[in-house]
Amino acid sequence: MAEQILFDRSGDRISRYRELIPQIRSLVTGEPDLIANLSNIAAALKSAMDFFWVGFYIVRNNQLVLGPFQGPVACTRIAEGRGVCGTAMKLKQTLIVADVNNFPGHIACSADSKSEIVLPVLVNEEVVIVLDVDSDQPNYFDKTDEEYLGMIVDIVKSFFPGK
Ligand code: SME
Repeated sequence: MAEQILFDRSGDRISRYRELIPQIRSLVTGEPDLIANLSNIAAALKSAMDFFWVGFYIVRNNQLVLGPFQGPVACTRIAEGRGVCGTAMKLKQTLIVADVNNFPGHIACSADSKSEIVLPVLVNEEVVIVLDVDSDQPNYFDKTDEEYLGMIVDIVKSFFPGK
């Protein structure tokens, strides 16, 4: 496994996703440890996509607990139904929030975060992890991010075989 991510820094967002995702697949191939893999995925996404914050919350006892991430320090626990992450967990749906200040109950880990996308990872119809990505620009995320970050969700799902 090559422990580096190569991509064309001049590329647009779609071309970066397209270069990055196969490299993430090979980065995690053969490594069974969940935390190691989530850590490298967060680092790869941060470095290639220049997101303000990217990371995972892991479901423990029906709460979201902060997992591997890259970016400023973040809140450690989020109850189901709270904030964007807890709402995505409750609804079992991806949420794209164009302006976090207009999302009722948004949890502001950083005042610089302006928009957000949260994708739940479902295994046997239960949320086990959420992927949270924040931008310091408003209205940053769209269906393209949902599509490509959905491929990351599929990679994370593959860490739960036979469940
Ligand atoms: N804003 C999120 C909390 C997590 S941080 O953005 C890293 C929320 O409202 O759930």
